[in-house]
Amino acid sequence: MTNLLTFSADYSLQSLNTFGIAARARQFLRIEQLAQLQAIFADADLKAMPRLILGGGSNLVLSDQVDALVLHMGLKGRQILGEDENYVYMQAAAGENWHEFVLWTLEQGLGGLENLSLIPGTVGAAPIQNIGAYGIEIQEVFTSLTAFDFVTGEQVDIDKATCRFAYRDSIFKQEYKDRMVIVSVRFALPKRWQARLAYADVAQYLGQHQIDSPTARDISAAIIAIRQAKLPDPSRIGNAGSFFKNPIVPASQRDSLLTVYPKLVSYQQDNGDYKLAAGWLIDQCGWKGRQLGKAGVYEKQALVLVNHGGATGAEVRALAQAVQADVYVKFAVKLEIEPVFF
Ligand code: EPU
Repeated sequence: MTNLLTFSADYSLQSLNTFGIAARARQFLRIEQLAQLQAIFADADLKAMPRLILGGGSNLVLSDQVDALVLHMGLKGRQILGEDENYVYMQAAAGENWHEFVLWTLEQGLGGLENLSLIPGTVGAAPIQNIGAYGIEIQEVFTSLTAFDFVTGEQVDIDKATCRFAYRDSIFKQEYKDRMVIVSVRFALPKRWQARLAYADVAQYLGQHQIDSPTARDISAAIIAIRQAKLPDPSRIGNAGSFFKNPIVPASQRDSLLTVYPKLVSYQQDNGDYKLAAGWLIDQCGWKGRQLGKAGVYEKQALVLVNHGGATGAEVRALAQAVQADVYVKFAVKLEIEPVFF
């Protein structure tokens, strides 16, 4: 059992979080087999310690000292499970890189994930915040997942309804936060694929490149290009993608904001509420490109906070709070932080 659990003490996490924060883990272990989770569960002292499951570290703001067992998810494997008349069923282990998985499904001739190309992070992290971009969310192609349950010590299959997916949210950010460790995720990809081009940026890119009937691979290439132009590459400038959720407000509030700010960017939701573009709100407060300490607001997209080199988690938090305060004063809208602080 001991060789399953060879922890490294005081381990640097700087290269394992996309914000590039120079954090250190009290105890660190890479998880390469399920038996390691079972062994932690079986050890009363280890089981009682706080746990941080680290995937791609792309939705995370770390403190200098992470006083926890940091478990780096390294479970690998992906396969086609089968098919029926309408779908091909796929599975990937939690430690697979999300974007490589998307490219692999495209290589198999399967569409459905192309709008989610180039999202940083792992397959196992994807359902936690119900990743979404360019008009699709993972919940649309998700069927079920397997998790290790730290209450029972058993593996459990969790279906879609139980996940309670919502905009950048699921049960894994709520009740199951410290309980379930996702080990593999399953998807159904449609055999009769249809392009999803509702998002203006994508349609515009394809138009400019004179692509009239795009394939799933064309859309993937377009989205890769759009993301590369708009979002900072974490290997060059530390960041965690969108730092705030786009806030959802009642129609009455959106209407009164619109009378004062005719250029307000908003999108109607199915229930009549409106989603506001947080990036636009932050931009209007003059924050784009500004810095507070070593943390800053990205110059090309105000929704993204960045590390200009040597920023601490505390500096990132202080910047986030300053942005939230200004947006609240100007628009009476509360911005919710998207990444997890640990
Ligand atoms: N805008 C500004 N100034 C800014 C940024 C944005 O005026 O500095 C305006 C844009 O002009 C546009 C609107 O705000 O009219 C929306 O901007 P954009 O299309 O870039 O998308 P977003 O709402 O900022 C969301 C997701 C992204 C996702 C894109 C594309 C959230 C929190 N963010 O961003 O997700 O890639 O849509 O679907 O929902 C992520 O979660 O890490 C992420 C990058």
